[in-house]
Amino acid sequence: MESKLFTPVTFGPLTLRNRTIRSAAFESMCPGNAPSDMLLDYHRSVAAGGIGMTTVAYAAVTQSGLSFDRQLWMRPEIIPGLRRLTDAIHAEGAAAGIQLGHCGNMSHKSICGCMPVGASSGFNLYSPTFVRGLRADELPEMARAYGRSVNLAREAGFDSVEIHAGHGYLISQFLSPSTNHRKDEFGGSLQNRMRFMDMVMEEVMKAAGSDMAVLVKMNMRDGFRGGMELDETMQVARRLEQSGAHALVLSGGFVSKAPMYVMRGEMPIRSMTHYMTCWWLKYGVRMVGKWMIPSVPFKEAYFLEDALKFRAALKIPLVYVGGLVSRDKIDEVLDDGFEAVQMARALLNEPGFVNRMRAEENARCNCQHSNYCIARMYSIEMACHQHLKEELPPCLKREIEKIEAKG
Ligand SMILES: Cc1cc2nc3c(=O)[nH]c(=O)nc-3n(C[C@H](O)[C@H](O)[C@H](O)COP(=O)(O)O)c2cc1C
Ligand code: SF4
Repeated sequence: MESKLFTPVTFGPLTLRNRTIRSAAFESMCPGNAPSDMLLDYHRSVAAGGIGMTTVAYAAVTQSGLSFDRQLWMRPEIIPGLRRLTDAIHAEGAAAGIQLGHCGNMSHKSICGCMPVGASSGFNLYSPTFVRGLRADELPEMARAYGRSVNLAREAGFDSVEIHAGHGYLISQFLSPSTNHRKDEFGGSLQNRMRFMDMVMEEVMKAAGSDMAVLVKMNMRDGFRGGMELDETMQVARRLEQSGAHALVLSGGFVSKAPMYVMRGEMPIRSMTHYMTCWWLKYGVRMVGKWMIPSVPFKEAYFLEDALKFRAALKIPLVYVGGLVSRDKIDEVLDDGFEAVQMARALLNEPGFVNRMRAEENARCNCQHSNYCIARMYSIEMACHQHLKEELPPCLKREIEKIEAKG
């Protein structure tokens, strides 16, 4: 079969030059919650590397939605900086997307400026912090913040937005019975748990109008007992299809409960704590990290089996993400009927991987899934250990080698 990889693909008003998208992977390159030259240089390199669209990660729609101090927060002051970024991406022939979300209960007062808010009140061990459940009368304004962020994204020159409705962030906290214990019309039945997502999507689609593409990243499974499974998430996907979204990105996992279900493999705890500056967090995570972040085995295209079930049941364009490292597998996924593929680690490892795939039919990137990039991103800018300017301390080298040897 002729490869579809380098043929154009259309999502609503947007046509990409090929079927590859750099998936939203938090860069941790936004000190002061604003874009930096480092962020621009990274996305320019991926755009120059041949990608169809590169997605700037995880911008918070309100200050309360920030979970990191080096994370974007959508507000008018950062538009000129974002405009320079989208101009640089466009100059390389790629489209520019931005992921919009709210972290809900996964923050801390020192970062988001208030007691973290979520679908329900309680204590979140992940941060760790007490959380205030949002009142029903606060939800329309929260939904409007997503719509306002779409308008800001347009002003900044983005071609598309990706709404984060998965991984245990705010929309996902409303959807999942494990984090939504509400007794009002936003809790209980799945219909009720989808109500906040519906409100957000109404604002987003209104703001997107006819010139912005809207992708939604969602969970096929939350990845732990008591979380959402396919029977419910399929209904969520159908609802998103009805909302008018232009494509769904099918993922899974819950950062506060099953983080490695998202990315698979093992979290290098020593590397993670090495960069932390808060001493009690550093030693706390070193002691309980392995227990709090259990490993989940990696295999190439690990979400494919579930994603195929969504492909069979839905008409909406679907984007596959999760464990793609070779041209062979990408061709297979596209032949299975997915409109496009997203990659995170392959492009951290090799920003020019797409151009290499054009030249080599058997191209495979050299990412061995040590997950060092993820461990590092919690404290400083994301980077692949294979391309660091600085020398890695021997204990981190040993940890990475050990994880890579396990495969
Ligand atoms: C360093 C890093 C940061 C990530 N940050 C985000 C994020 O901000 N938002 C998101 O939806 N997914 C995030 N992810 C998950 C990726 O988008 C993707 O779903 C996952 O890594 C699987 O794709 P891959 O196997 O191509 O890496 C991140 C992944 C990595 C490696
Ligand atoms: S740090 Fe490890 S997991 Fe991350 S991109 Fe590099 S090789 Fe892949």
